[in-house]
Amino acid sequence: MKDLAIARFTELYGHAPTVLAWAPGRIEFIGNHTDYNGGTVLGAAIDLGMWVAVAAAPAGILRFATDSQRGIVAVPTSAPCKQVGPQRWVNYPLGVWTSFREFGWQQPDGLEYLACSNLPVGAGLSSSAAIEMASALAYLGLTGGSPAREKVVALGRHAENNFVGVPCGILDQGVSGFGRKNHLVFIDCRGPRFETVPMPAGAHFWVFNTHTKHALIDGMYAARHRECMDAAKGLGVSLLADLTPAQLEQGRALLPEVNYRRAKHVIEEIDRVARVRAALAVGDLAAVGRLLTASHRSSQVQFENSTPELDFLVETLTATPHVYGARLTGGGFGGAVMAFTDAEFSAAEAARVADVYARRFGSRPDVLHCETGEGAERLAL
Ligand code: GLA
Repeated sequence: MKDLAIARFTELYGHAPTVLAWAPGRIEFIGNHTDYNGGTVLGAAIDLGMWVAVAAAPAGILRFATDSQRGIVAVPTSAPCKQVGPQRWVNYPLGVWTSFREFGWQQPDGLEYLACSNLPVGAGLSSSAAIEMASALAYLGLTGGSPAREKVVALGRHAENNFVGVPCGILDQGVSGFGRKNHLVFIDCRGPRFETVPMPAGAHFWVFNTHTKHALIDGMYAARHRECMDAAKGLGVSLLADLTPAQLEQGRALLPEVNYRRAKHVIEEIDRVARVRAALAVGDLAAVGRLLTASHRSSQVQFENSTPELDFLVETLTATPHVYGARLTGGGFGGAVMAFTDAEFSAAEAARVADVYARRFGSRPDVLHCETGEGAERLAL
């Protein structure tokens, strides 16, 4: 992909790029909708992601291109407006560019830009955070800035919250920024504080992308965000992570039933993250798997961010030998299921699960056997 990014850039702009950066997609291992509630989460960077090649250009125009669409989108620096229609993808690199000014960082004042990806879009693997992180590192390569990694992660999230307009937490950018091969990234989102946790040998991730997507997906994410904030307010705390499961039960009568269930999911999920960490530390992968599946059940029943397709995959996978556990990964309302398996789980077994799904829903999920990967970095040209 690196060579492809350089070749495409050269073809498009007539000269080689001067900076190349890469950032991975991520798996949400456990910690569903805990991040913006001040909780904890475990994720893994994967070895698929986004490559961003750039070069400085005369001031005044930002030129954006991607390997998945024809043409160049030119945006004047004097009017960096939100894009609509097929060029909506530009909002990610453009949002990062405008955030540079908001963070007091020097912006490239003219830009030639190309993004290339081998990450399936819409699979719940956060191609958006990957493009944000790779863009930020590429711009920093042009301007010579070197802020702390925590700041780059915060800027990626800022761009997504304020320019793209999704009230996401820090999970996606944090894992993309702090990932490490054969490790999970643990985030205490309140700091935020980032740590890497070794992944026990012999554990594998498989992702089943259903290609389903709720039509109102962004609105549903925002609605869950609002319900969580309302629940925290109703219970007199600033964030749900301030509460234990027992305190939630004591305050139950203060909340509308729906908000109670949203809060229950988040607060119990934070507890599951701690239990998964403890089980990983002693190599009890069966216990990890049970907690992952419990997380999915809670999404299904309490948080209602699952779908019949995702539930069916989790049912099928958890009834399959060599699968420790399975759950939806990411925001939900469609997207992908992650299975956590031992080394014996094979591509043939995965294909069988995909067949069973296809017989039921009439379309086949894509199956990805994901390797963990390194976090975002600038690459030598
Ligand atoms: C999306 C968001 C993350 C996180 C997850 C749910 O991936 O971008 O910040 O909230 O959903 O855990």
